Amino acid sequence: MTVQESAARTRPVPAVEAEGIAKNYGSVTALKPTSFAIPAGSYFVLLGPSGGGKTTTLRMIAGLIRPTGGRVRINGADVTDLPADRRDTSMVFQGAALFPHMTVEQNVAYGLTLRRLPRDRIRSEALEMLKLVGLAGFERRRPHELSGGQQQRVQLARALVLKTSVILLDEPLAALDAQLRRDMCFELKHIQESVGITFVHVTHNQEEAMTVADEIALIADGELVERGTPEHMYETPERRFTAGFIGENTLLDGIIHGHGQEARLVIAEGLEIPLPNAPVGEGRPASVSIKSEDFRLAPEAVDAVSAPVEVVDVFYLGFSTVMHVRLPDGRPATVRSTTGALPTRFRSGDRAVLSWRPEAVRLHLA
Ligand SMILES: Nc1ncnc2c1ncn2[C@@H]1O[C@H](COP(=O)(O)OP(=O)(O)OP(=O)(O)O)[C@@H](O)[C@H]1O
Ligand SMILES: [Mg+2]
Repeated sequence: MTVQESAARTRPVPAVEAEGIAKNYGSVTALKPTSFAIPAGSYFVLLGPSGGGKTTTLRMIAGLIRPTGGRVRINGADVTDLPADRRDTSMVFQGAALFPHMTVEQNVAYGLTLRRLPRDRIRSEALEMLKLVGLAGFERRRPHELSGGQQQRVQLARALVLKTSVILLDEPLAALDAQLRRDMCFELKHIQESVGITFVHVTHNQEEAMTVADEIALIADGELVERGTPEHMYETPERRFTAGFIGENTLLDGIIHGHGQEARLVIAEGLEIPLPNAPVGEGRPASVSIKSEDFRLAPEAVDAVSAPVEVVDVFYLGFSTVMHVRLPDGRPATVRSTTGALPTRFRSGDRAVLSWRPEAVRLHLA
């Protein structure tokens, strides 16, 4: 056995593998050929702007949309030609898709009833799932007697009770208000960890994605732009688009000048960002991003790199304060400081100095 063969034998089979899956609707490309693998037992999030292709991707995994090209494998088995009900997946849809005339317990038990399991087994499994999602005692209620968050939990219990190895969730929290959405994120994560099933969750909400995900795939314009852990996507994004979508980054585009220690990104006359040892040549267009919390605003320079700015507006948010400033050529930048760490209370129209550490600058070549 070669080393590669032995590695292939011990490598765990991904729960979901998409190999070049694509979807066209006539001349509309919903998803360009895209490949990814989702490790078994992980919480995977498809994140991205509206119309990017997230639902299309999820529904191709579910078997609800037939790909124009490519293959889908679930636990190593090619399911591309299997209908949704023959795949080892279950789906949680957006909004309240519960049967209104059925009780909570009947809603949860529905899929098991179709499987013609013994009645007391159906009952005990439905009750077990209701307990898992925090709804023990709600089994006799009807959907209209539940809050939005509770209805969402019933949907989750209805998917979990099927004991499939993959649960697919399309914007499961979109109908909830911000506070409830946050609480439900923590719960979803706990539930996924306790059952150990692979979750694939679609959302356009960055905070939701960061809260639940082991890994995030950013999808936009029918393309998988970048994937990685929440830490990777936030701290060290490779693509300019990722830096623009995740976090609160200031993006600056320019041209590389100089070499080695002298390399710098020239953004405008009088506005240059040092990029010592940038791995690209003179004259190449590039972008940099800096996180809002990596900027410091003060009456004078307090870090190694700085630029004079004018304060445009200031938003006091309690723990932090967000300030929009204008760089010398008029370009906007966003600064977020812990309110208590601000040297003075800035006001719109103030002149100040924006400073940052050279290590805070992330280079994006695409
Ligand atoms: N049945 C269809 N016929 C034609 N175009 C479609 C169809 N379904 C989706 N599309 C197009 O495919 C693209 C991707 O749609 P998709 O629903 O996957 O986006 P999404 O990322 O889920 O967006 P949202 O966050 O708004 O739900 C969009 O441009 C959409 O208009
Ligand atoms: Mg969608």
